[in-house]
Amino acid sequence: MIFVKIYMLILAIETSCDDTCAAVIKIKKNRKFEILSNVISSQVKLHSKYGGVFPSLAKREHQKNLPIVVRKALKEAKNPKINLIAVTSGPGLEPCLWTGINFSKELARKMKLPIVPVNHIEAHILANVIDKKPVFPAVCLIVSGGHTQIILMEKIGEYKILGETRDDAAGECFDKTARILGLGYPGGPIVAKKAAELKSKKLKINLPRPMIHQKNYDFSFSGLKTAVLYEFKKRPLKIRKSKQYVQEMCAEIQQAIIDVLIRKTIIAARDYRVKSIILSGGVAANEELRKQFQSATSNQCSKITLSLPPKNLCTDNAAMVAVAGYLNTELPKEAKVRKKMKFSFDWQKGRRGLRPLLPPRFHKWKLGKKHWKEIKANANLKIGEKL
Ligand code: KG4
Ligand code: ZN
Repeated sequence: MIFVKIYMLILAIETSCDDTCAAVIKIKKNRKFEILSNVISSQVKLHSKYGGVFPSLAKREHQKNLPIVVRKALKEAKNPKINLIAVTSGPGLEPCLWTGINFSKELARKMKLPIVPVNHIEAHILANVIDKKPVFPAVCLIVSGGHTQIILMEKIGEYKILGETRDDAAGECFDKTARILGLGYPGGPIVAKKAAELKSKKLKINLPRPMIHQKNYDFSFSGLKTAVLYEFKKRPLKIRKSKQYVQEMCAEIQQAIIDVLIRKTIIAARDYRVKSIILSGGVAANEELRKQFQSATSNQCSKITLSLPPKNLCTDNAAMVAVAGYLNTELPKEAKVRKKMKFSFDWQKGRRGLRPLLPPRFHKWKLGKKHWKEIKANANLKIGEKL
């Protein structure tokens, strides 16, 4: 008999928008995380012809892909014995959220496992703690396709929304302006690529920086989208189609978004005297945004540390859901004690292996007072709201 310290193995499922995601993570000693698998099945090709996500189509694709994606995630993780299921319960597209939740409940029933519901925004923020220790208090900027918020984070689990977009999200602005330019979906990565190709500015396009001088932490991006439309329409067809014009427009759109995001976040960080700024969400994968945030923080507030999630964990994924699920979990005592590991021989696979002996009461664990069977989808769930 050997004694090994293992804490938890979590299977996470994320279906809040157009990516079907499943991941297995291992929580080791000192709350260190190891991603054993992180599978993402993107529906981008399917939705690109609509220029955005078509919810009922996304739901159908999730239903089709979930069993395959989950099986793949478990297989890549070498089929470990899972202790807990984490699932996104909101915010997001309701039909899509329900698909993930219902699938997780069915799986939990079959595998006799508890489930923990996860807030999608919190999961984006906690993608930052996978590879490093967070520093609190922090101001978090969440920039995704559906959200743009500045959040004060006292510690994990304690959030206060300081400001948010009054209309479109930053990612949505990238997507919609890319559509005006005829660049396809999702717009963010394409706009970033075209902007990086620009060698010199010749047309001198000037787009507005909405709300940049207003004394609040709110944003507005729909005016920028309209300005792009007017600028585009006033140009003759020959110019609109030229490489130079598209590259210059992309660079200006990207810069207008970056300018507002950086200014408002730094002001919030200084006003609240926080120790760090945490970026998260799909737009945080933008290379220019990352670079300019780094130089702005070191020039304007060098005592504040900047935390950037790994690029592959900025856009939707289930690894971040697993981490948020773990950090939101009041573990029963049994899960924290040393587990006995038995050295056994697997007759089917014909090899020796270590098998954890799970405490018997563990499977009966419930989430607080609420049973996991009561978990519901909530399309408009706010961060910090009780799940
Ligand atoms: O977080 P996410 O995957 O999904 C939501 O929760 O909404 O974010 C998707 C958004 C899309 O709007 C996409 O255009 C944007 O993130 N995005 C980017 C980049 N990669 C993804 N925006 C700018 N630059 C990028 N490199
Ligand atoms: Zn997201």
